[in-house]
Amino acid sequence: MGFSTKQIHDGVVPDPLTGSILTPIYQTTTYVQDSVDEYLAKGYSYSRSANPTVRVLENKLTALEEGHDTTCFGTGMAAINAVFLAFLNAGDHAIISDVVYGGTYRLATKIFSRFGVEFSFVDTSNAANVAAAIRENTKLILTETPANPTLKLTDIAAVSVIAREHSIPHAVDNTFLTPYYQRPLELGADLSIHSTTKYFDGHNATVGGAVIASTAELDEKVRFIQNATGSIMSPQVAFLTLQGVKTLSVRMDRQSENAQKIAEFLLAHDKVESICYPGLASFPQHSLAKQQASGFGAIAWFEVKGGLAAGKQLMDTIELWSLAENLGSLESLITHPVTMTHADVEPEERARVGITDGLVRISVGLEDAEDLIAALDKALVNV
Ligand SMILES: Cc1ncc(COP(=O)(O)O)c(C=O)c1O
Repeated sequence: MGFSTKQIHDGVVPDPLTGSILTPIYQTTTYVQDSVDEYLAKGYSYSRSANPTVRVLENKLTALEEGHDTTCFGTGMAAINAVFLAFLNAGDHAIISDVVYGGTYRLATKIFSRFGVEFSFVDTSNAANVAAAIRENTKLILTETPANPTLKLTDIAAVSVIAREHSIPHAVDNTFLTPYYQRPLELGADLSIHSTTKYFDGHNATVGGAVIASTAELDEKVRFIQNATGSIMSPQVAFLTLQGVKTLSVRMDRQSENAQKIAEFLLAHDKVESICYPGLASFPQHSLAKQQASGFGAIAWFEVKGGLAAGKQLMDTIELWSLAENLGSLESLITHPVTMTHADVEPEERARVGITDGLVRISVGLEDAEDLIAALDKALVNV
């Protein structure tokens, strides 16, 4: 079956009791057992360990990413935290893409470092850098591609070959492209991580996370952490995310089409210093973008002539676009990473990886492209 059919039907059956076409929200703590001897006969005991509504979402994400199994979490950060806890012990070392969501950087440098885990933030856009950074105690490679916010790409297949040679799990944060456009496990990665807050939900309604594992062994390690730490997704969030996923491919295609039009408009604008979007021929890794993904996504960034002051003025005055932190929703959002999503990354580190003070990130939504362009044009005229 094709992706769009799977995103609607896979794993969802009418409720056996009523025929309800939507999976019910199983709002319960516990599940009555048939007998002591038939404990867990129906598969559920307590909602921290498993919940039927969440399980349907997990099965659907497994099908869409072509994985072995999925564990859902309360947020994307809880999902990343679980991967760290599953694979890293005191004295271990992990390699992480040098450009990642600021929260991932903060988790590594401000929390796991306290427990004796070492991290190298490596330019994973060149797989040779990953090979060179591997140490005897390297136990995890985490890449984010496209990376938030600069959109730097990592060649998933090339890094996965290196990871496999050293028997190190390779986890990919696939939040920006979703399995509709990019399937890391098919490219050789071991784990695909998502903030379901973004495109899976798509409607700015929930925060959630997911880890899709390629094998039962990897899945068990992640699921053990979820149960032990209690970092579950709630059934209401799973229910809403299940509705969002049904339109994922349609939203991704339309939002990406809008992003392409907007990027081309910004490219030609005399107030714009630079524009970065994987769908532009000027994107430095345009051929890798085409090679490992079937779409370019709906995130872009640009710098306004006049630097930080001009960028701030644009973000403060623009109409229609919301100045907000999220991305991937059907509302178009505009973000200043340096003061918002990446505020906890030290200025020197931001400068090293290209997160400049004037960088404006846009998450293109589902509105009419003409209206989004008109709003940008009006705001740019005044900067
Ligand atoms: C690429 C990426 N990964 C992970 C996260 C964290 O997800 P959450 O906000 O759901 O915890 C984000 C959030 O912006 C993100 O952009």
